[in-house]
Amino acid sequence: MVEDIIDEIIQSRLKKRSRIFKSKEILHPDYIPETLPHRENEIRKLAEIIVVALRGERPSNVLIYGLTGTGKTAVAKYVTKKIAEKASMLNAKFLYAYVNTRKTDTTYRVLASIARTTGLRIPPTGIAISEVYRRYIQALDKWGGLHVVVLDEIDYYVRKGGDDLLYKLVRINEDLEKARVAIIGITNDINFVENLDPRVKSSLGEEEIVFPPYNAEQLRDILKQRAEKAFVEGVISDDVIAYCAGLAAREHGDARRALDLLRIAGEIAEREGASKITVEHVKKASIELELGRIYQAVTTLPLHAKLVLRAVIDLVKKKGSGTTGEVYSWYVKTAENYGYEPLTQRRISEILTELDMIGLINAVVVSRGRYGKTKIVKIPAEMIEVLDSAVSI
Ligand SMILES: Nc1ncnc2c1ncn2[C@@H]1O[C@H](COP(=O)(O)OP(=O)(O)O)[C@@H](O)[C@H]1O
Ligand SMILES: [Mg+2]
Repeated sequence: MVEDIIDEIIQSRLKKRSRIFKSKEILHPDYIPETLPHRENEIRKLAEIIVVALRGERPSNVLIYGLTGTGKTAVAKYVTKKIAEKASMLNAKFLYAYVNTRKTDTTYRVLASIARTTGLRIPPTGIAISEVYRRYIQALDKWGGLHVVVLDEIDYYVRKGGDDLLYKLVRINEDLEKARVAIIGITNDINFVENLDPRVKSSLGEEEIVFPPYNAEQLRDILKQRAEKAFVEGVISDDVIAYCAGLAAREHGDARRALDLLRIAGEIAEREGASKITVEHVKKASIELELGRIYQAVTTLPLHAKLVLRAVIDLVKKKGSGTTGEVYSWYVKTAENYGYEPLTQRRISEILTELDMIGLINAVVVSRGRYGKTKIVKIPAEMIEVLDSAVSI
């Protein structure tokens, strides 16, 4: 009986306890630990801004920025949650909304998701944005408290949808009589801040908090705290944790990457049936992550960049390297083979520079004496096969 087989599999799988992980969710990027080491200053700054809400004042809007994995999301969630708990003990009217605009990316959905946290029912479609806004304002004033709205990764939304909604939200208090709204905007992209409409920038950035990258020692503490809860005792040593922290520190101190390394190293150890996680497992994890990244970078390239990459791979496989002139003629052939009109040599040379910057190819300028300069294009040997399988046109 099929059911029996399934039952048996479920039974045996569920009975089998992991020798490596005690609780893998602890290493998940969305998990917020009870304490956030080395973010005391940032927590204090944000809490001092928001806490005036408990006295019935409107907190300043805050703009938070810093590179990925510096703890911005974790700190914002941590502080808003703690203050909401305090507020409920004190019977203060305080609510917060958290929206990640990379995941919730239309004006309607962002606004609806903010409005719903006040208890409003907003249908997924079917009413005008201005109507959602009107109902939100009405509900806020009827309630009369303070609404903190966290807009995470706002650069994604603004790049796609423009800054109209932000403009409206930072001035929303003009439309409110009793209630107040404070905005916490978060971004990884510092250029985004520079390019904001100056009026939005000045209202959103009433206060600014910059999150610096973590160094290797700080990452080690962060990993240690998570590892203690995530792994079975004795599975991971301080040395291995320090090694992970060191690798991630070289990558601009990204705690998410450090945690990913640790989790994947654990998974590899588990797959190999090992009883401990070793430096070798971390090295393998690092390669696995890197391959994933290359795959991601290649599959999201625009069409002609993929065609150029295809041409470079074929050329390098045949001859080891090539000049920009050679790349161009291989590219023209490749494009025509796939039935596309080739772009100009100048455009291709720009694409080569971009591919070089992403790190998918190496382009070195060499002098050819009185013939001027040219670029020699190569691909690191260990990357050829990965790229070859990743480029699909
Ligand atoms: N100080 C810290 N202590 C413990 N975990 C942290 C700390 N900073 C970041 N993390 C963890 O690292 C990961 C990435 O942090 P996150 O807040 O998402 O970064 P950002 O939003 O800046 O990209 C999350 O899993 C988070 O829990
Ligand atoms: Mg984040």
